[in-house]
Amino acid sequence: MRVLLIGAGGREHALAAALNRDPQLEELHVAPGNPGIAAIALCHQINVDDNNAVIELAKKLLIDLIVVGPEKPLANGLADASRAAGIPCFGPSKAAAQLEASKDFAKQVMRDAGVPTAKFFTCTTKAEIEKALDTFGAPYVVKHDGLAAGKGVVVTDDREFALEHALQSSQVVIEEFLDGPEVSLFGISDGHNIVAMQPAQDFKRALDGDLGPNTGGMGAYSPLPWAPDQIIEETLTKVLNPTIREMEARGTPFIGLLYAGLALTNKGTKVIEFNARFGDPETEVLLPRLKTPLAQLLLKAATGNLKGETLDWSDDSAVTVVLASKGYPANPVVGEPIMGIAPVDGSQVFHAGTTLRDGILHSSGGRVLAVTGIGADLTEARNKAYRVISAITLLGSHYRSDIALNASVAEKGN
Ligand SMILES: Nc1ncnc2c1ncn2[C@@H]1O[C@H](COP(=O)(O)OP(=O)(O)OP(=O)(O)O)[C@@H](O)[C@H]1O
Ligand SMILES: [Mg+2]
Repeated sequence: MRVLLIGAGGREHALAAALNRDPQLEELHVAPGNPGIAAIALCHQINVDDNNAVIELAKKLLIDLIVVGPEKPLANGLADASRAAGIPCFGPSKAAAQLEASKDFAKQVMRDAGVPTAKFFTCTTKAEIEKALDTFGAPYVVKHDGLAAGKGVVVTDDREFALEHALQSSQVVIEEFLDGPEVSLFGISDGHNIVAMQPAQDFKRALDGDLGPNTGGMGAYSPLPWAPDQIIEETLTKVLNPTIREMEARGTPFIGLLYAGLALTNKGTKVIEFNARFGDPETEVLLPRLKTPLAQLLLKAATGNLKGETLDWSDDSAVTVVLASKGYPANPVVGEPIMGIAPVDGSQVFHAGTTLRDGILHSSGGRVLAVTGIGADLTEARNKAYRVISAITLLGSHYRSDIALNASVAEKGN
């Protein structure tokens, strides 16, 4: 099988590594890729926001399957272009990707499908916004309707700030605050059938103790020793299946990765958000644990053949810690040399924002590397990830020291 993977981050590096392990994979091509991916796949420097350029490349390379990593090409209709050209694609159509690209659309689908989620109002005027804010009270949750690269959502006790944020967008969703631990649970869908992956948890805040600003994700771990046993089954029944059925009934089947961001509230599991692609950095803990051959799995999804499929997982635990540039997330400083990358047995270093200059690796993004440790339990996985990340030098860089810490302590206590 010849696969073309689209994207350039840590998620795509983890996808590339897992695709490469599939015995049926013959060639792995990635566009545009990054220096880490270039070590394990053939990279092509094309503009992946240009659907024609991607399809042309796929035809030239006789590609059997296109796998789309990031949300932007999906919202841009790359999956539609791929299927129109007769190339199976793991990724939702532009219409189905609205589950991520529009918060209001996702809320309507959940309402129609009976999926538990926060109560909400969609507002376009100042009067509607103020009424919604006062209906729910603090903490206020305000979401810009469109894709906002992680900057569209504000959760705050400050009514003035919430109002100001709401007024920056022509349409906003204002919703009830959900209390409780957050879990990410991914489903792989062929448009009619959906298979759930194992749950993972990510760390959104920049600093230890969940302090500091929101980021794209500073780390993750899986499995979750503290999570209720039935979480996968319950999410399948109450969230993933009804959503896939609703999308199918609307004539816009969802083919690809349905990411459910869940809050485990004292009133049950509720959906915080959907994304339409693999999440980062959860992918960097999930895929190293997945034993099911990934290229075959994603091809089955892309061609409507997932019925009866189950996933095979390693019993190991995985912990990912992200190395971020100085000043990330507000003002990341890039272009600094990176030294000391030396993976140990049972660890992987995924490139997220790196570039080669004169043969030397330099930082090129806010999140630079994602270091995954794998071990018999979370403590061992953590130790490996931290041993590797602490040996890496990048001027001014920072990482959290408490990724999976509480969960590893609780696991030991059991
Ligand atoms: N109703 C809610 N109650 C409490 N917290 C919430 C609520 N909605 C969102 N949040 C918090 O805000 C974060 C971001 O919200 P959301 O996931 O909708 O935004 P996003 O910008 O699409 O995020 P991502 O970049 O992960 O896709 C959530 O991870 C959660 O911590
Ligand atoms: Mg989102």
